[in-house]
Amino acid sequence: MDHVKLHIPGPVEVSDKTFRAFCSPMIGHRGQGFKDLYAKIQPQLQALLYTKQLVYLSTSSAWGVMEGAVRNLVAKKVLCCMCGAFSDKWLDVSQRCGKQAEGLKVEWGSPILAEAVDKKLASGQFDALTFIHNETSTGVMSPLSQIAALKEKYPDVMFIVDAVSSMSAVKLPFDALRIDVLLAGTQKAFALPPGLTVFTCSPAALAKAAKSVDRGYYFDLVEFEKNAQQNMTPSTPSIAHIYALASKLDEFFAEGLDARFARHEKLAKMTRDWAGRHGFTLFPTAGYESVTLTCINNGARSGGRVVDVPKLQKLVKDAGFLIDAGYGKIKGTTFRISNMGDETEATMNQLYHALDAAMKKL
Ligand SMILES: Cc1ncc(COP(=O)(O)O)c(C=O)c1O
Repeated sequence: MDHVKLHIPGPVEVSDKTFRAFCSPMIGHRGQGFKDLYAKIQPQLQALLYTKQLVYLSTSSAWGVMEGAVRNLVAKKVLCCMCGAFSDKWLDVSQRCGKQAEGLKVEWGSPILAEAVDKKLASGQFDALTFIHNETSTGVMSPLSQIAALKEKYPDVMFIVDAVSSMSAVKLPFDALRIDVLLAGTQKAFALPPGLTVFTCSPAALAKAAKSVDRGYYFDLVEFEKNAQQNMTPSTPSIAHIYALASKLDEFFAEGLDARFARHEKLAKMTRDWAGRHGFTLFPTAGYESVTLTCINNGARSGGRVVDVPKLQKLVKDAGFLIDAGYGKIKGTTFRISNMGDETEATMNQLYHALDAAMKKL
């Protein structure tokens, strides 16, 4: 179908093959057909996340599980690592859940570093932390393995990790990291339509959730575990998404996970090179650039080039591609280009050609 191709950092382009799987004939969610479907993808999901834990499927966008994890796992106080729009919002969401919460705030564009987290956790005030691996608003990828290494020092703190825009594009070895919750919405690097979240939990998280009296029902981690043991979900899931996920997982393993991770890294580097060729600088602190999207500075303050971003966006859109004009308080002073999902060197080159042509017209 003729349409504007998405190069915004989610939702991203969904292939015809994925849509065909999405439109498979409907089945009942308590029947053997559904159990067989979930049983088929469970080992693939476990391989994707390098875990022996069961992987759960939530019919919600990521915020559902992000909020649910806080409701299930925060008894004392949560430390919210804040470095951009989504991680900042998690403090607000935690407070709206009635939890004691404190922010560890860094400038947008900077990563969250282990030393600062360590200092905060040393106070002994916290029994949970929220951390976003790939802050989509700023294009910053914080060093997850260094943060996760703190788990050894603080075994009773629940490490709740959002990998919304990195899961399946970057190796995330859940068991080896020893974190407690890892989640992602599937409209990003999985290249599925929005509406499904994939997540897993540590045994310690499940044990802690079981003791929480106000964890609700829809995002009750214990319910997800109990149901997943029988290849089911607590409530009626979006079965269409799960068909599409099954199709996608087959593609991931046909490509090979290492090849998939390397592809995302290569494509992000190509976008950074495109930005450099046009005199732009990058928004993230050097060394912490995302491998799924590129957040490009547009402003004299950054020492780089300044363009009319809405005009650039419009020209590229007329050529058939949608890029993002910046998010939250950095809208207009940055713009973002996604290379998530099914993109290849060939498809990214088509985008760069359209961008090159647009740049000539500015
Ligand atoms: C890193 C990150 N976390 C959380 C979210 C929220 O996801 P959703 O709106 O799908 O619930 C987003 C959305 O873009 C995101 O990029």
